[in-house]
Amino acid sequence: MKSPKKILVIHGPNLHLLGRRNPSVYGRTTLNAVNQALRQRAKELKVTLTILQSNHEGEIVDAIGASHSRYDGILINPAAYTHTSVAIRDALESAALPAVEVHLSNIHARESFRQQSLMAPVVSGQVSGFGAHSYLLGLEALHGLLTNSGHKR
Ligand code: DQA
Repeated sequence: MKSPKKILVIHGPNLHLLGRRNPSVYGRTTLNAVNQALRQRAKELKVTLTILQSNHEGEIVDAIGASHSRYDGILINPAAYTHTSVAIRDALESAALPAVEVHLSNIHARESFRQQSLMAPVVSGQVSGFGAHSYLLGLEALHGLLTNSGHKR
């Protein structure tokens, strides 16, 4: 039997506040509820998840840096670091694992400083604008990349 694919899920800064942080933008679903939904879907897809939330750029860089031999793919909402962190971008590029970037809000329809993602060029793809459901769509997309052989990245 093949061993289940292992996915590292990273929630960036301030996402621990989900549910009470700008609910008109990010919705009322808490991070716990997001993680529960992810774990449920992961079970159905027969993948395993390790979930990290961090407000610290270096901690996220370390987790991605250690991911290459431990995980098959990365699901990441880099939150505000999406728009600022060359370090996280470089870590994702170096990890060279399939990675899907997710955002609750549609970053392309928001303030101009949010419209650029430094991550976009180094991830496999991006899901943005579907609230908490973005995470499930992202997980499905990543699962597809990990199970359809032949896709590079
Ligand atoms: C976010 C969008 C970012 O611009 C913002 O800084 C966040 C959350 C989103 O999920 O919509 O913290 O990544």
